Parts: sequence; C-alpha cells; structure tokens
Amino acid sequence: MIDFARLAGAGMITPDDLQSQIADEFRLIKRPLLDNVRASSRSPEQRANLIMITSALAGEGKTFVAVNLALSIAMEMDYRVLLVEADARRPSVLSTLGLPASRGLIDVLVDPGVRLGDVLLRTSLPRLSVLPVGSHHARAAELLSSQSMTVLARELSSRYSDRIIIFDTPPILSSAEARALAMHVGQIVVVVAAGSTSNSALRHALETLESRPTVMTMLNKVTGSSQAYAREEYGGRPARATQA
Ligand SMILES: Nc1ncnc2c1ncn2[C@@H]1O[C@H](COP(=O)(O)OP(=O)(O)OP(=O)(O)O)[C@@H](O)[C@H]1O
Ligand SMILES: [Mg+2]
Repeated sequence: MIDFARLAGAGMITPDDLQSQIADEFRLIKRPLLDNVRASSRSPEQRANLIMITSALAGEGKTFVAVNLALSIAMEMDYRVLLVEADARRPSVLSTLGLPASRGLIDVLVDPGVRLGDVLLRTSLPRLSVLPVGSHHARAAELLSSQSMTVLARELSSRYSDRIIIFDTPPILSSAEARALAMHVGQIVVVVAAGSTSNSALRHALETLESRPTVMTMLNKVTGSSQAYAREEYGGRPARATQA
C-alpha cells in the first residue's frame, strides 16, 4: 500500500488532489518526455521509454521528481510505469512511498536464480510497479555500473516496451554508476535546485552527458523570490517544480 498521507505531507502528488499545483507542474514536466516516447515508438533501439533522473549534486530533488513523475504518469493513465530505485547509496524511493524494504535490483545482479519478475513490487496504484534497489551489498556501486546492469536496462526496455521506466539515480558528478547508466537510457532529466546548484557544477554535469541525445534540465525547489529566475531558459526546457 502506498502511503498517500505521507506523500501529501511531503508536498507530492496524491490521487485525491489532481488539481494541485504540483500535479499541474508535473503535467508540464512529463509532456515532452512522453512526446519523445511516442515519437520514437518505431525506433525501440533509442530506448526512449528508459528515463533517468539525476542531478549534479546530492539533495537537489531527484527522488522527489522521480516519484512524482511516476505518480503523475500512472495516475493519469498515460502509460504503465516501472519506477526503479537505482541509488544504492541513499535509496529512498521505497521510504518515500511508505513501502517496506525488499529484494530488488542488486539481488537480480548478484544471483542468477533471482529473476526480475520475482522482485518487482505491485503497488496500490494498478499502473505503478516498483523495482527496489534490494539487499545491501558492499560492491553495490560496481554492480550498478557493470555490464550486467547494462544488459538488465536493455532487457527492461524491450520486455516492458509498453511501460515508462523511471530510474532514480545518485548525483552524476559523484557516481560512476549514474554515468554508466546514462549511456543506456533514452532520456535523461537533470534536476537543478534553484539558487543552490552552482553554474560550474551544472555545466560539468551537462558536459558528462554531452554525447547523449535527449537531456532535459528541470529547475526544482523554486520559491517565491526566485520565480523570475525560473522563467529564464536554463540550458533546456524551462520545466520546473516549486517548493511550498
Ligand atoms: N519541489 C520540491 N518541493 C518540496 N520539497 C522538495 C522539492 N524537491 C525536493 N524536496 C524535498 O527536499 C528533500 C531532498 O529531496 P530528494 O530526496 O528528492 O533529493 P535527492 O536529489 O534525491 O537527494 P539524494 O542526493 O540524497 O538522493 C526531500 O525532503 C524532498 O521531499
Ligand atoms: Mg534521492
């Protein structure tokens, strides 16, 4: 059961208030991503259905964005969604949704006997399932940047080609696993915390992703005083999420 009261408390999207400002903001954020999925439906090799959420640094709102994006797409029935907790250092997708820890990605990567279908979690939203990061492992970061992870990401894209697969990842500047995964997903959202991410950190993060075809920046944590700042083009589409 997803803990919707908890989501509401964190200012996130809930099914009984789809008129909220946050629900509106995520309608704008998801639109170009879903447009790209539709536009490349005849080119599965682009893997546009694999969408990675990252940022330059810690705490910019990656998990907040990944979970809200997944909820928005699943609740408004655009597509079925698989939300992947791909951050083994600070996993927080399950706790954000109020779901108990369980086996997941790492277990599939270390044990050939564990199959994806064994660890996918259904949720109380029929169109949303979750792939937890799984058991603690000393070499989790290496596993997430391994060739097996590449194979798994590709398998997810083709096996669940009718779903949007959203990866919540660690910060790209400090995580080799996020940089590795970036090479195999079709779309990347770089979350930028308004007023806190420095230009040089953002530039550096975007340089890391230079070879990738579809990278969208998203301004997050916009507050009253920085609304004007939010209206500036910020290296991409001026999508944003405000902070109450
Ligand atoms: N737009 C927003 N409005 C309200 N709260 C927000 C917003 N964005 C992020 N937060 C809050 O800020 C905190 C940090 O966000 P979050 O955990 O999503 O960041 P993160 O980038 O995933 O961090 P980490 O690098 O640790 O994984 C959380 O408490 C989250 O609920
Ligand atoms: Mg996070």
